Amino acid sequence: MICLAIESTAHTFGIGIVTDKKKVLANVKDSYTTKTGGIIPAKAAEHHVECFDSVIKKALEDAKLSFNDIDLIAFSQSPGIGHTLRIGAIVARTLAVLTGKPLIGVNHCIAHLEIGRMLTNAKDPVLLYVSGANTQIIAYDGGKYRIFGETLDGGLGNFLDTFARELGLGFPGGPKVAELASRGRNYVELPYVVKGMDTSFGGILTNLKQKLKSGKYSKEDLCYSLQETVFAMLVEASERAMAHCEKDELLLGGGVACNTRLQDMCKKMCSERDAKCYVLENQFNVDNGAQIGWLGLIMFKSGIRTEIKDAIIDPYERTDDVEVTWR
Ligand code: ATP
Ligand code: FE2
Repeated sequence: MICLAIESTAHTFGIGIVTDKKKVLANVKDSYTTKTGGIIPAKAAEHHVECFDSVIKKALEDAKLSFNDIDLIAFSQSPGIGHTLRIGAIVARTLAVLTGKPLIGVNHCIAHLEIGRMLTNAKDPVLLYVSGANTQIIAYDGGKYRIFGETLDGGLGNFLDTFARELGLGFPGGPKVAELASRGRNYVELPYVVKGMDTSFGGILTNLKQKLKSGKYSKEDLCYSLQETVFAMLVEASERAMAHCEKDELLLGGGVACNTRLQDMCKKMCSERDAKCYVLENQFNVDNGAQIGWLGLIMFKSGIRTEIKDAIIDPYERTDDVEVTWR
């Protein structure tokens, strides 16, 4: 069975083509970026409208397939930016109507976890999911993917992007902050904000802005200290989730999981407690169509269907709103 899947929760329009034999035949994307400033939802949606046909064409070419070979159409139905989700849903519905193929809508956050399990053979990992909009520590328990810890304000990636903007850098800011951090040498004390299992970044951002304005610290040292602090907060909460749930696998997902310093810190924590740490290729950390396709396939195979009339976006659906019937 072959699934063509559409990802459009935020800045990325992606098409994945995946088989039920765990083969990723294509994973093509086009992302909205800026030189300065963050994502403007209407502009990101415009970007998706402009590129969707060429991304679909390229994915079919990479997979050496035509629409006739596709058995299922999947799309990210939730959560995300309404403006951009809507474009993906329209493309998905249109393709389903024109081709007569079945349609399935999936939850994007859960897709991060399921593609990780598929690619690594991890059995029951705790997912540290750190993207632009989302920061969650997720694990399976009692028929749902439960959120054991999350951000109390914005996502980690958005926090990195916002600080990058303060430094006069464009979107995405995470890689630029990482590059500056690699040249930082001196740790500057910052607030360390873990409340129970949750984290918060707003106060740290304010503190960083004040320090930047004071002119007393280099950008490199601030970025270095920022990374050391916020990554330590997340490693601490992830370790606690693993201990509490008695799980011995940690999976990283989301765009910020591309960060090699975060990866190293997670690997170290896992090795100290005899656990496995799974890091994916960057193409599967960032938003991508392949993860939507894989989750679509396993949901479809468990009997779940999305009627065209129900293929409506759900920007605010939470990870733990979804009944997991495919495990
Ligand atoms: P989601 O819909 O899952 O919330 P998203 O729309 O934010 O995802 P992703 O592609 O998962 O998109 O993540 C983008 C974020 O990842 C951006 O905030 C970006 O700055 C950050 N990022 C990308 N690469 C790195 C890196 N090497 N280090 C730190 N952050 C990074
Ligand atoms: Fe994502």
